[in-house]
Amino acid sequence: MSDGVDLGRRRFLGAATGVTSAIGIGFVAVPFLSSWKPSARAQALGAPVEVDISKLDDGALMRVEWRGKPIWVLKRTPEMIERVEQADPMVRDPMSEEPQQPEYASGRLRSIRPEVLVVIGSCTHLGCSPSPRFDVGAEDLGGADWPGGFFCACHGSKFDLAGRVWRGVPAPLNLVVPPHKYVDDATILVGEDEGVA
Ligand code: FES
Repeated sequence: MSDGVDLGRRRFLGAATGVTSAIGIGFVAVPFLSSWKPSARAQALGAPVEVDISKLDDGALMRVEWRGKPIWVLKRTPEMIERVEQADPMVRDPMSEEPQQPEYASGRLRSIRPEVLVVIGSCTHLGCSPSPRFDVGAEDLGGADWPGGFFCACHGSKFDLAGRVWRGVPAPLNLVVPPHKYVDDATILVGEDEGVA
């Protein structure tokens, strides 16, 4: 496994918060999703999930679960945002015009706030879980043309730091942005998007 993968994984923070009505919502810095599950009742109801991003470092990724799906929250640095712009020629739907997501996820950065990307961490080909590969210029992913992003090892699909799918890979669509909104500066509610902050 390359150093790049390791670097990506070191930044791949796991975190969990409670559902909307839960008490004691907090950030749990555990490395893998499997270490946290919402209650069975919350899962059954598909309740919205509050995500506390107050401790999310610049350049770091955390994930939570909503309706049984992995939700990724990436805090992009200004440099990462620049690299999204640079990836425009390499991606299939640069302005995210496919009607696969909430309106606020269209455009290049696909996010309500430029620095915070929220996507469902499932490959749009056959549903494997891509890996974070933030190592710019990774030789196995295209060398100098690789701006950092996500790689699905199942069949070789690539996505940039906005979840935009590469041209010429099996995955047909960008990573899906789930409905979400900001409850306050440091809290995202995944599963509802009324009253976008
Ligand atoms: S499931 Fe990701 S490339 Fe096939």
